[in-house]
Amino acid sequence: MKIKDLTFKQYINKSQIQQKVRELSAQIDLDYKDKAPLFLPILNGSFMFAADLIKGVNLPCKVSFVKVSSYSGTASSGQLKSLIGLEESLFNQDILIIEDIVDTGLTLQRIVEELKSLGTRSVEVVALLRKQQAREKGVAIKYTGFEIDNEFVVGYGLDYDGFGRNLKEIYQLKN
Ligand code: IMP
Ligand code: MG
Repeated sequence: MKIKDLTFKQYINKSQIQQKVRELSAQIDLDYKDKAPLFLPILNGSFMFAADLIKGVNLPCKVSFVKVSSYSGTASSGQLKSLIGLEESLFNQDILIIEDIVDTGLTLQRIVEELKSLGTRSVEVVALLRKQQAREKGVAIKYTGFEIDNEFVVGYGLDYDGFGRNLKEIYQLKN
């Protein structure tokens, strides 16, 4: 399968994804029984995962899509990232961040800290995919779909240069 200049091979098929997403939804149903969590899917990559995951949840819940904006910091260290698009009040809310993939986890770590400082009751993360690096860094992710290699992947919301998000399966870069 080709996207622009790169060739990809099938990595995680449709039924494996669906099975895993069902398991995650069921676990969230159990863990958040008697609660009404606020899902915060991080755009763009998590849109497809979020839709399937939330459809499988039977709890009363809210959903608010957010984006991570990068802007130049004054420090020479480069870029600071922050959440934009938040319209719900987060006070006393049980937040579940939905991510497509966690690679270094640096952005995620910052976002979790930011959300925790806003009077939330709890902040947890659901990630469909987690790369090796994030495991090594010990980024706290409560729910992980698949632990994967460090190879680049596309499909099911994830893109290569903007393309490939519509693919129903997850593909891995072929070396
Ligand atoms: P991190 O801050 O290094 O964890 O980067 C996470 C973000 O980078 C994800 O939310 C994706 O948008 C993007 N990303 C990381 N790895 C991949 C990949 O293999 N394919 C597509 N996007 C990726
Ligand atoms: Mg992302």
